[in-house]
Amino acid sequence: MRPIWHDEVSDRVKVIDQRKLPHHFETLELATVDDAIYAIKAMVVRGAPLIGATGAYAVFVALKNAGDAAAEDAFIRREAERIKAARPTAVNLAWAVDRSINRVTAQSDGSARIRAARDEAAEIAEEEVQNCQAIGRYGLALIEPIAGRKSGAPVNILTHCNAGSLACIAYGTATAPIYEAFKKGIDIHVWVDETRPLNQGARLTAWELGRQGVPHTVIVDNAGGHLMQHGLVDMVIVGTDRTTYTGDVANKIGTYLKALAAKDNDIPFYVALPSSTFDWTIQDGVADIPIETRDPDEVRYMPGFKGEPGYLLMPETSPAGNYAFDVTPARLVTGFITERGICKATEEDIRRLFPDR
Ligand code: MRU
Repeated sequence: MRPIWHDEVSDRVKVIDQRKLPHHFETLELATVDDAIYAIKAMVVRGAPLIGATGAYAVFVALKNAGDAAAEDAFIRREAERIKAARPTAVNLAWAVDRSINRVTAQSDGSARIRAARDEAAEIAEEEVQNCQAIGRYGLALIEPIAGRKSGAPVNILTHCNAGSLACIAYGTATAPIYEAFKKGIDIHVWVDETRPLNQGARLTAWELGRQGVPHTVIVDNAGGHLMQHGLVDMVIVGTDRTTYTGDVANKIGTYLKALAAKDNDIPFYVALPSSTFDWTIQDGVADIPIETRDPDEVRYMPGFKGEPGYLLMPETSPAGNYAFDVTPARLVTGFITERGICKATEEDIRRLFPDR
């Protein structure tokens, strides 16, 4: 089951409510643009490729509910700006909404626009699935030689946050090479960073890997450096929300520290991404990628079993900061695994794979 889909019978857009996993499997309907914006902001849906697909489906929902306004460019462009503002870091959101708006506004008739938006959203989702499959095949080629060198001992891969099927429609980006290796019979084990404060690793990546039967262990976010020092990590693979054309990578907070530790221990640090996550306008990721800050209560409270507010972790009066992403400079990245192949984290090598951009 995919994390977003268009139900053709009811003509409704539906999503898995990722806030409730792993203990409860619930779906929600995105009946209005406000529902879609809420779902992105509240992280009912999350992960860069899925945020993009949700943005494209939000354009469809906007047009479907618009009546005569569906034929008005000003209306749909206003709605597009509202959707794009839902979360700032993942460039996939603006990319997918702009792509949809370009296709929609090439039509003048309201019903044709609705069909165009629905088809564009479905195509974006399908392309991301195919991108993940290609990333899996290219990433496997990195895991195989490590497995060869380890002669039967498990290959230990560390990942951060959730760059799996829930984030990417299917297969995942960081997880696709892991699934390919597992399918090929390579003995593989995944260290899953819990990923405070919303625990996407512990809740979502562990859930996905468990369902596929992939051996894994959830660790606290600060354990990675220790494991690396002791030879217990062979490779790091993470996803990204925005990667500059110069190779700087924005991903879930804590990714940078894993990259520093990997560098210090001479461990390959790979970032898996579809081309929709490259930002072709930003040169300096640390200076210019917008970093989302979220409600401090996500840090102050540990959520309960069913996703209820849970308990306060700190003194009532202590403030908390909730920086959702950080930027790993290109110099710490061994390479990118993309749907077009593997490249180094340099402008020259990225442009070699994407000369059309
Ligand atoms: O805040 P989230 O859960 O949306 O953050 C997600 C991540 O950081 C993922 O690693 C990223 O979106 C890549 S998903 C392929």
